[in-house]
Amino acid sequence: MDRLSTEVAGVRFRNPFLLASGIWGETGAALARAHRDGAGGVVTKSIGSATREGYPNPTVEQLGSWGLLNAMGLPNPGMEHYAAEIALARKEGATVVGSIFGGDAKEFATLARAMEQTGVVALELNLSCPHAKGYGSEIGRDPAIVTEVVRAVKQAVRLPVWAKLTPNTHDIGALAEAAEQAGADAISAINTVRGLAIDPETMRPVLAHGFGGLSGPAIKPIGLACVWQIYDRVKVPIVGIGGISTPEDAFEYLIAGASAVEVGTALSAGGDALFGTLSAGLERLLEHHGFSTLAEAVGASHRVR
Ligand code: DHB
Repeated sequence: MDRLSTEVAGVRFRNPFLLASGIWGETGAALARAHRDGAGGVVTKSIGSATREGYPNPTVEQLGSWGLLNAMGLPNPGMEHYAAEIALARKEGATVVGSIFGGDAKEFATLARAMEQTGVVALELNLSCPHAKGYGSEIGRDPAIVTEVVRAVKQAVRLPVWAKLTPNTHDIGALAEAAEQAGADAISAINTVRGLAIDPETMRPVLAHGFGGLSGPAIKPIGLACVWQIYDRVKVPIVGIGGISTPEDAFEYLIAGASAVEVGTALSAGGDALFGTLSAGLERLLEHHGFSTLAEAVGASHRVR
């Protein structure tokens, strides 16, 4: 299926469907399983400097057909302990992208150096988790901090750097420009959208943490709008994320400007067969529209305006 292979900032993936960060990504065995199931690449759970337990339960709520609301609290084993998980996934042949989160540019740079040692093909910077104090979108919605973090990481490593941006801002295009000017090699968009579920009986927020991040079908139009806008503002490749569960969803992201996509929430329902279904369907769609390579489709909807 050569038509499906794609390149993001110098890294080739066998197909554009990457396992999204945070889904199945906490262990090497789960990353390897996504690879065996047909993922083009896998993105790790966001890894920080130290072991974090995360928030107390409940941390996830299914919102009917809209998708999931979650606030896990960035649980992870810490960089030192996680290297062995990546080694396991790589041994099984997975193309691994390492996701990291930090509280400032210095912490990001230190983590980036450690992550580089594990043999990942690229780094994805989590500048966009919507509810963790001092992390994610709290710092990543400020273009000046995005600049600082990306610049520090670029100085620290040789790997391609993907900046994962938040939709919880009035101008994601400005964040993308800041990232690109600081040297980011790609933009990942979007992370979850901040949301809240309230139980009318107890009158309390459903999740223990209160606010959560919304993912799944409800955020696809938001993700598409962000990718479209970012494509108009920067030259670096875009990795599209948000509500992708069918080949058509992925095709829309590609023609809006994405060179690859990440799939997360849909896997909680679609399971093992989903990556194969997505690749087969996208292959048919590309052929139907006369694209002999995936690259020809990237941004195509901007050209038929
Ligand atoms: C978490 C992190 C994220 O980046 C996100 O989008 C949602 C949840 C978390 O671990 O809580």
